[in-house]
Amino acid sequence: PRRAEVVRAGTAVAAELEDGARRLLRRIDLTPALGDIAPGEPRFAGAWPRSAADGGGLEIELEDGSREAVEAEFLADGAARCRRERRAELVIENAGALVTATGAAGEAGDPLGVIPGGAVLAGGGEILWRGKSEDLGRAGIDTAGAIRIDAGGRLVTPGLVDCHAHPIFAGNRADEFARRARGEDYLAIAAAGGGIAATVEPTRRASFEEHLELLRARLHRALAAGTTTMEAKSGYDLTAAGELRMLEVALAGDSLSAVDVSPTLLGAHFMPPERKDDREGYVAEVADTMVPAAAERGLAEAVDVYCDRGAFTLEETRRILEAGVRAGLAVRGHVGQFSDLGAAELIAELGGRSVDHVEQISEDGISALARAGVTAVMLPGACVQLRLPVPPVAALRRAGVPMALASDLNPGTSFSETLPVQMWLATTHYGMTVEEAWLGVTREAARVVGRPDRGVLTPGARCDAVVWDAEHPAEICYHYGTPLARDVIAGGRPVL
Ligand code: NIG
Ligand code: FE
Repeated sequence: PRRAEVVRAGTAVAAELEDGARRLLRRIDLTPALGDIAPGEPRFAGAWPRSAADGGGLEIELEDGSREAVEAEFLADGAARCRRERRAELVIENAGALVTATGAAGEAGDPLGVIPGGAVLAGGGEILWRGKSEDLGRAGIDTAGAIRIDAGGRLVTPGLVDCHAHPIFAGNRADEFARRARGEDYLAIAAAGGGIAATVEPTRRASFEEHLELLRARLHRALAAGTTTMEAKSGYDLTAAGELRMLEVALAGDSLSAVDVSPTLLGAHFMPPERKDDREGYVAEVADTMVPAAAERGLAEAVDVYCDRGAFTLEETRRILEAGVRAGLAVRGHVGQFSDLGAAELIAELGGRSVDHVEQISEDGISALARAGVTAVMLPGACVQLRLPVPPVAALRRAGVPMALASDLNPGTSFSETLPVQMWLATTHYGMTVEEAWLGVTREAARVVGRPDRGVLTPGARCDAVVWDAEHPAEICYHYGTPLARDVIAGGRPVL
């Protein structure tokens, strides 16, 4: 590389290559083991600075032995400074209703924890205080010089978390959509070489930079609809090198967008067409090569398997998810969209985070989820589009299974970056309440992506928030299909 730089602290190092293209090299955590970087990649030299006061610089040793100082920014330390100095950088005031999403779930009272006339003070990227606008002066926090957003009586909520999305793919399948609209069947199209396989070829062909541009556009559309955190699954390349490349795209997209991206390895999305006669070999490659490589290189936070008719069996799923557990990845699954193969029980046994789709799930599966505290992720966009029966929402609720709600953004069954449309479908078609829909795209979704500091407006949480052109929480479900996000705040900064 000619030059390497930290694109965003805590996220990524990008390098500018000889040809001028940029490529993501590796993810960095704020408390990294700086020694263990693969040969051939730039190595970090010198100490990782602990605070912005240290100069914010980071020295990187390049392959040719030269050293390069790069700038880094430390949001976490900024928050500590703001807390110490009791100083706000952002004020959101005069919310008609401030949804804190901190009420008790399922409670008859107020699961959304609404503060009428609410306000939020944020500094260093996180929430310092929240309460009633009239009490702002009594918060004991200096607001001089802060950016002020007057919500003017509008609804203010946490930034939305899209906990199930496939935003990295090339091409589109509009032709298939039209065929399905004429009555053709999704699984039959897939069996004849369409479906996921039809996205694999353009995805493999597209360059890193093309993928990055596509992802950035999708993240921007999500942001405009109120999403501030999004999962990004791989799963449309289906080779070891290609799946890791897609995860690098996810992290590069994270670096270049205000949306925080949580990457998930979905190497077992579909049997690659060229490996049809080598199922065992492919499953072994996912479990023994892709999973450890993605975990070691810090490219994925979770592993997911599509366990269903036409995809992977329960035994294959177990093999891959157990490898994920060994590698320290969070475990998730596409479960029971068409057939219940028993993956809900498996994921509960493995201490997984979520089972997603679950149109088909048994009573035993539901009990297993409840006992293990696994979240069921509802994906009504895909369900409605494929004209599937709805998941057993009432039984999940009765059993106390946490429910999240996501877009399933993908080129086949749900091409949408817009969570409010899912909230409309959840409340009109799935029998979820408005409160369940809201918690499903905020607090519950944040747990699914392992970010409990999101999806709530409470001191110490990351300040991701949306001011909506609406007054009542139900309006976001009710007034559907129209963009209603007016201001979007990510990490304490207005980004839209
Ligand atoms: O979540 N169910 C599997 N995967 C996607 C569909 C992918 C596609 O058709 O491209 C889903 O619905
Ligand atoms: Fe999916």
